[in-house]
Amino acid sequence: MFQVLYRSEGDQLFPPDQLGPLLTASRTRNAAAGLTGMLVFAQNHFLQVLEGRAENVVDTFARIERDSRHRNIVTLFRGHAPAGCCFAEWAMGFHLIASQHDMPRGFIRVNHRIDLTQFDHVTALEFLSACQRNTRNL
Ligand SMILES: Cc1cc2nc3c(=O)[nH]c(=O)nc-3n(C[C@H](O)[C@H](O)[C@H](O)COP(=O)(O)O)c2cc1C
Repeated sequence: MFQVLYRSEGDQLFPPDQLGPLLTASRTRNAAAGLTGMLVFAQNHFLQVLEGRAENVVDTFARIERDSRHRNIVTLFRGHAPAGCCFAEWAMGFHLIASQHDMPRGFIRVNHRIDLTQFDHVTALEFLSACQRNTRNL
């Protein structure tokens, strides 16, 4: 199982009403390619993990990297996922953090803001797992 984990910044305040269409399209494509994963959106930042066969993950991530709807993409991990990887529930799970109340338990805010850019690879995976348990079917 191959895994890519990255964070990025929405281009020009990515409008939240575009999240629905983005997710619908992503889920259809991911299901066709046998990919699963989890996406979080908070304070105009994305955090996403994608899993599946290496060539499918790499192809999809190459498309995602070219997408002008976000920028400043930072790859936190790209490689073979540890055994028992845990994002298999959704073609693309989604969690929107619109306020501090949407933060999973145990994760702190910095200066009352939710800062996805603070996470290293391991913390980002823990955060995405915690969000997956709260995922909403947007
Ligand atoms: C934050 C973000 C996450 C995305 N996640 C996925 C995804 O999981 N799967 C996918 O196929 N496309 C995803 N996309 C859309 C791709 O970037 C791309 O638009 C889509 O795959 C179609 O590719 P094409 O425009 O080159 O045909 C995502 C886009 C953004 C901005």
